[in-house]
Amino acid sequence: MTPETLTLPYLNADLSISERVADLLARMTLEERVGQMLQLDARDDLEDHVLRRLVGSILHTSPERIVQASQLTAQTRLRIPLLVGEDCVHGHSFWPGATIYPTQLGMAASWNAPLVEKVARATAVEVAATGIHWTFSPVLCIARDLRWGRVNETFGEDPFLLGELASAMVKGYQGEGLEDPTAILATAKHFAGYSETQGGRDASEADISRRKLRSWFLPPFERVAREGCRSFMLGYQTMDGVPISTNDWLLSDVLRGEWGYTGTLITDWDNVGRMVWEQHVHPDITHAAAAAVTAGNDMIMTTPTFFEGALDAVQNGLLTEGAFDAAVERILTLKFELGLFENPRIPLDELDGLVGTAEHAELNLEVARRSLVLLENDGVLPLAPAATVRVAVVGPLADDAQTQLGDWAGGSGQAGWLDGQPREMITTVLDGLREIAPWDVVHARGADILTLEPDPSGATWPDGQPRPPVVRACAPDDAQIAEAVAAATSADVVVAVVGDTFGLFGEGRSTATLELIGGQNALLDALVETGTPVVVVLLASKPLVLPASVQRAAAVMWVANPGMQGGRAIAELLTGAIEPTGRLPISFARHAGQQPTYYNQIRGQHGDRYADLTQSPAWAFGEGRSYTSVSYSALELSQSELSIEDTITGHVTVTNTGARPTVETVQVYVRDAVTSVSWADKELKAYQQVSLEPGESLRVALELPVEECTLVNATGTRVVEPGKFELLVGPSSRNEVLLTAEFTVA
Ligand code: NOJ
Repeated sequence: MTPETLTLPYLNADLSISERVADLLARMTLEERVGQMLQLDARDDLEDHVLRRLVGSILHTSPERIVQASQLTAQTRLRIPLLVGEDCVHGHSFWPGATIYPTQLGMAASWNAPLVEKVARATAVEVAATGIHWTFSPVLCIARDLRWGRVNETFGEDPFLLGELASAMVKGYQGEGLEDPTAILATAKHFAGYSETQGGRDASEADISRRKLRSWFLPPFERVAREGCRSFMLGYQTMDGVPISTNDWLLSDVLRGEWGYTGTLITDWDNVGRMVWEQHVHPDITHAAAAAVTAGNDMIMTTPTFFEGALDAVQNGLLTEGAFDAAVERILTLKFELGLFENPRIPLDELDGLVGTAEHAELNLEVARRSLVLLENDGVLPLAPAATVRVAVVGPLADDAQTQLGDWAGGSGQAGWLDGQPREMITTVLDGLREIAPWDVVHARGADILTLEPDPSGATWPDGQPRPPVVRACAPDDAQIAEAVAAATSADVVVAVVGDTFGLFGEGRSTATLELIGGQNALLDALVETGTPVVVVLLASKPLVLPASVQRAAAVMWVANPGMQGGRAIAELLTGAIEPTGRLPISFARHAGQQPTYYNQIRGQHGDRYADLTQSPAWAFGEGRSYTSVSYSALELSQSELSIEDTITGHVTVTNTGARPTVETVQVYVRDAVTSVSWADKELKAYQQVSLEPGESLRVALELPVEECTLVNATGTRVVEPGKFELLVGPSSRNEVLLTAEFTVA
C-alpha cells in the first residue's frame, strides 16, 4: 500500500463504522460493488474470483486456500478483506482434526439450550482460529416429513423447542459481539418454509399459506432476528410461485419491516441461477440478477455469472448504478464490525490448544450423552455386571467412524479436501465398549447397507454441480448373518447397531421409504430369533421405521449421528455409567405412509386412524425413558381465572419412584378449548429439566405468561383468544401421560 492509501479514511480505525463504510463505498467502482455481493466457491478458480469478479466472500475453503485467498486480496485495488464462510453446523465440519459434535437433531434430543450454547461457543473458538468468519448455522426449519433428507440438520418438529435451541446456538456463535476475535457470524436458515416439502422431496415448491408460515414456521426466525442474528440464508424453494430470494412480502414486509431486521441476507447455493435453469421464472441471468438485487438480497452464493448478469442489467436499464449500495453497505459493515480491515483473521499459526482440544472433546462427550434417547427397555439395560460375561456387538454401524459423524462432517463429501476426520479422534460403539465394558466383547458386521452408483441421468446438474449418486440397497448376506448369529448365540447380550449412512441423508437425498435398508432387517430378525436379548442401537440421521421383530427386542435406543464421542457415550449408557435423559425432538412413524406424524397437528378430520393402521406414532415427540420411573401428580394452578396480562403459575409434583437417579424433562403444553380458526390440539410452551435422586419428590414451579397462549387468526394476526384453556403437564406429548388443569382467560 502506498503512504497515500494508508491515510484513506476507510482505513482509519478511529472513525466510526458508518463513516468508514461511506468513504469506502464512494471509492468503489460499479464492478467492485457488484463483486462485493458475490460469494464464490473457493474450490474453483480463486484467482478469477478475487481478481476478476472481485468477490466479497468465499466459502468451502481448505486450510491452504484461505491463505491463498488472502494473498490475492492484497493484490486488489482497495484490498477489501474477504468474508470467509463455511458450513460449521455441528462443529468445524471440514477442518481436519476439529471437534465434531452430534448433529443438530442429536443436540435437540438433549432439550438443553445452555449445553447447545456451549457447543456453539466452542465451535466458534475453533472456527475463528482457522480464519473462517461465518458459519451457515443454525437450521431453523421445522422437520415435518421424515422422508426429507435434511431432517438431521434441524432441531426437530416443534417451533418452541427449536426457538430455544436456535437462540442459544446463535448466542454461542456470536459471543459477546463481533469485535470479539472468537465470535463468528451466525446464519438463520433456510428462511422460510423450505422444510415444507411435497413428499419429502428436497426444495420442492412449499405449498404454504402466509397464515401457516406465521403459525409455525416464522416464530423461531422472528426470535433470532430480534435477538440479533447477523445473517439469514434464504431457502431454495418457491412458495405460491415465488422463489424465496425474490419474495418481497417475506423479505421486505415481514423480515426487514415488521421485525426490523438489519442483518445480511445471503441466498442459498445458486438461488439466482436456479431462477433461470431450474424454476424457469426468469429468461436469463440478467433478469434473475436484477430481480435478486431489487428484492434486497445482499450476498449471492455461488452464482458466478451474477457478476456479468448484474452489470448487464445496469446496461439494459433494469437496475440503476445505485441499486447495489444498500447491500454493499451491509456487507462492508459486517467486515468493519469484525475488524477485518485491521486484522483479516487468517488462520492462526498455532492451532494447538484451540482446535480439537481435550476440553472440547469433554464437552462433546457431555452433549453426546445427553443426546441419547432410550425408547424401549424390558429391564435388560443397564447391562448387569454380574450376569454378563460376553457382549456381541454387531451391525454395519457398530464400527463405522465416519457415518457416526453424519452429514456435513468431513466424510460426507461436501468438501473435497478431506475424506473424513482422523479415525483416532472418533470412538465408535465397538471402541467404546472395548474401552469401558468389563466383559468379553465380540464383533460381527452382520450386514451391509448400500452401494452408491452414478445417477443414470448424468453426473452433474445443469449448473455443473454433481448430482447425488443413486442408492442400491445391498441384499442380505447369509454368511454375514450366520457369523452374527454365531456371535449372538455365544453371548449374553447383543448390541445391534443399525441405521442409515451416507447416500441416505443430506441435500437432494430424501428417501421414499423410512425402513432400514440393505441386510439390516434380515439381520435383526435373525438376531431376535436367537433368543439372546437384543439391544437395538438405532444410529440414524432421522427417525426410521424398524421391522416387526424389534417388538421382541429387549431394548431400543435412538441416537442421531452422535459425533466423535458418540460410541463412548453409548457404551456408558449400556453399562449404566450414565443415565438416559434424552427426549425425542421429533416423532417416529410406524410406516412412511403415516407422514406427517408431528404431534401438533390441526384438529379436525374424520376419525383418527387409517383403515389399515393407527395414526399414532411409534414414539411420540417428547418421549424417552429413564433407568428409573418418574410419576407426576398434583398439578395445581394458583389461579384459574386470568387476564391476558397475567402469568399462569402453578405446581406439579414429580417423584422418582425407582432406584436410579435421573434428569426429568417436565413438559408444559397448552390446549385452547375453542378457537376461531382450526388450530393445533396442543402446543409445547415451556419445559424444565430437574434432577431427581431415587425416591426424591420435587414440587416443580410452573410459570407461563398468558400472552404465550396464542394462535394465528384468520387474518394472520397472532392473538390470545379469551376463553377456556388447559395446561397439560407431563413427560411427553402423549395425551395419556399428561395431567391437565383448566384455566380461563377473560
Ligand atoms: C446449500 C445448503 O442448502 C445450505 O444449507 C448450505 O449452507 C450451502 N449450500 C453452503 O454450503
